[in-house]
Amino acid sequence: MSDIRFDGKVAIVTGAGGGLGRCHALELARRGAKVVVNDLGSSMDGSGGSSAAAEGVVKEIEALGGEAIANGSSVADAAGVKKVIDDTMAKWGRIDILIANAGILRDKSFSKMTQTDIDLVIDVHLRGSFMPIHAAWDIMKEQNYGRIVVTTSSTGLYGNFGQANYGAAKLGLVGMMNTLKIEGAKNNIKINAVCPVAATQMTEGLMPPAVLEQLKPEYVSPGVMNLVKEDAPTGVILSAAAGAFSIARIVETEGAFVGVGDDLTAEAVAAKWDQITDTSKTLPAFKAGGEHGQHMFAVAAGGVKA
Ligand code: NAI
Repeated sequence: MSDIRFDGKVAIVTGAGGGLGRCHALELARRGAKVVVNDLGSSMDGSGGSSAAAEGVVKEIEALGGEAIANGSSVADAAGVKKVIDDTMAKWGRIDILIANAGILRDKSFSKMTQTDIDLVIDVHLRGSFMPIHAAWDIMKEQNYGRIVVTTSSTGLYGNFGQANYGAAKLGLVGMMNTLKIEGAKNNIKINAVCPVAATQMTEGLMPPAVLEQLKPEYVSPGVMNLVKEDAPTGVILSAAAGAFSIARIVETEGAFVGVGDDLTAEAVAAKWDQITDTSKTLPAFKAGGEHGQHMFAVAAGGVKA
């Protein structure tokens, strides 16, 4: 198996002053990439801020013999995002890899969640991924090369108490990925999502120390390297934790044709509910929204009475 290398490639990692982003940045640099280490240096709830965290990781990369620059902008701020992109282009003139990783938490049960809790989390995770990707998009198109990773979460895919804001943002990223994998295809832009579990500032105290010990953030980065390599897949959600990896997919059941016209009533749908929801019969994941429409027509056509 050949080495995965990023020589000559320029990578931006957001939120790379600590946790998972730091590990991704170090691993990219070890493998030859020039790295822009972005981090606002905030605490877990998004408060505070200092570029010291990003600068610390730049020093670590330099100590390994790598090349990196620090950027202390907020990914949730349009002017800050412009600065990340402008600094990168001024220094190295291209952007090959963008890992959108920055994040905060504002966990509360839904009735206690304030509009600020919702807005801040959507701003950092969803807009804070959308804006840098959007700003890098035309540059990647020009280059006919781009590798992008968004950072989703099991909360977005499956739910978690107290994280409605975070879950909405995290699944929103998958929605964005699903369209960008299609729009980027002809320009060799590939986009994937990582769904990690790791012991970081974000998960400190949430799990017993023995469990956290098995969840080193370093264990996620080797999977992420496979999402940004030359022959990366596109549109994949890679789950990564404790040295284990798997793929998450949204799938549909085979379904059932209920009827049309007078035959289509709420009761008729209820009568076929078991068949409609029979998850023992799921289809392969669709590659685009159009396949969903074809599926529905196929089920309807198969169900037309002679
Ligand atoms: P972390 O708190 O160690 O790292 C997040 C980094 O983002 C921090 O260094 C913080 O300063 C930075 N940041 C926050 N707001 C920013 C902003 N506006 N602009 C730039 N940087 C900003 O947490 P962790 O665990 O490393 O999280 C990384 C990503 O992984 C996040 O998107 C998180 O939601 C996601 N994730 C983490 C999981 C875990 O188990 N640790 C599980 C699922 C997803």
